Amino acid sequence: MQVLKTRKALKSTLSSFQKGYGLGLVPTMGALHQGHMALVRKALSENDKVLVTIFVNPTQFNNAEDLKKYPKTLKADIALLDQVSNDIVVFAPSIEEIYAKDVSSKTYHFDGLDKVMEGAFREDHFDGVGTIVETLLRLVGPDRAYFGEKDFQQLQIIKKLVEKHRIPVDIIGCPIVREANGLALSSRNERLSKNLRKEAGFIYKTLKAAKKRFGTESATYVKEWVRKQFEKREDLRLEYIEITDIETLTPTLRKLKNRKYRAFVAVYADDVRLIDNIALN
Ligand code: PAF
Repeated sequence: MQVLKTRKALKSTLSSFQKGYGLGLVPTMGALHQGHMALVRKALSENDKVLVTIFVNPTQFNNAEDLKKYPKTLKADIALLDQVSNDIVVFAPSIEEIYAKDVSSKTYHFDGLDKVMEGAFREDHFDGVGTIVETLLRLVGPDRAYFGEKDFQQLQIIKKLVEKHRIPVDIIGCPIVREANGLALSSRNERLSKNLRKEAGFIYKTLKAAKKRFGTESATYVKEWVRKQFEKREDLRLEYIEITDIETLTPTLRKLKNRKYRAFVAVYADDVRLIDNIALN
């Protein structure tokens, strides 16, 4: 498997691909799990070549400790990808290669999509995500780029980014992959104790129950009900529960018949921050 480290090597490899080849991009921060592999498989089924980027992007972390603790497993990631296909190329640049001497974000306007939930609790997070995703899209020029719905807010923001900045690429969202107990796959799950990882299945169980209630109850009632369920838990601390329109991400005050809604949570299990979401209708 080709593992490229520099912009120059990337450019040269991309120019060696035949004209008319479909190119899929799967941007990741490494510590690959079956959620990432589902993105890679979908990309392989829709493109001739797939470029997987592995880069822990410092500008999207608002917490230095979180960045420090983020798992870095490049060797294992490459071994995992190597088993899947010869049509994968990995781009794993250094921070200097991406940012040179200026490790900072651009400022974006995402029409309010970044003002709620993750954007409200993680200052400047989406400017960091926008900066790295725009950089990668412009460097690679893929036909399609793949992102997981676990980060549903991020997915909507990236769709907004390419629309506003006229980047010619199809952004493709892929369903959340879960552990047997319902816990959404995340590189952060590795940091949970065995017991807490089992107990964290409660998050999805609660979201599923919330979905059922949303059929007959108001968003305000459902959010309050979710808060009460987490109050009963000492091991899982709810940071937020929000219910929003899936397009605008504005918090739902009144349900409208022709709109689609989703519920979002962020939960601390010890010092590990987990996010999840579910389609409500
Ligand atoms: O979802 C992620 O892993 C990251 O936010 C992304 C899209 C790779 C940008 O660093």
